[in-house]
Amino acid sequence: MSTSIHVVVSFLVVVMIICFNNSIPTFADSNLFIEISNDMSSDHPGIFFIYNLTGTHIPLVQGQPWSITTDSATPKYCMIFWDILCSNFDLYNPSKYGIHSKTYWSVRTDGLYNSYDKGKWEKKESWRVRGYLGHCD
Ligand SMILES: *[C@@H]1O[C@H](CO)[C@@H](O)[C@H](O)[C@H]1NC(C)=O
Repeated sequence: MSTSIHVVVSFLVVVMIICFNNSIPTFADSNLFIEISNDMSSDHPGIFFIYNLTGTHIPLVQGQPWSITTDSATPKYCMIFWDILCSNFDLYNPSKYGIHSKTYWSVRTDGLYNSYDKGKWEKKESWRVRGYLGHCD
């Protein structure tokens, strides 16, 4: 009798552990590597971006790629500024482009290119003229 209760309790504990593990929010994972590099054809100082709407201006210097390891479950945004130009785009969006473990962005004079393997690059965004008060709408 006590053995079967023990078995039932053990089973319930296992079920609870499985449920608890599944309920751990996915933002706790660190399965995504994002890298942004400044690949302008010549030196254009003063390029900076804002990662995921955090408000912090991060300079993007030639030869010094910026990277982050973060969760692969939620979208990440980027707002990048180059003089009077800017772009406001999805750095990573699993519902739009699928889940990936690595995503690379190359910032070029003619726009923003994306790659998942640093081999095949695809132009995803163009520069736009900044709007009212310099905002990137
Ligand atoms: C980025 O922003 C999105 C939308 O606000 C949010 O769901 C996500 O958790 C954020 N990710 C990080 C790493 O801050």
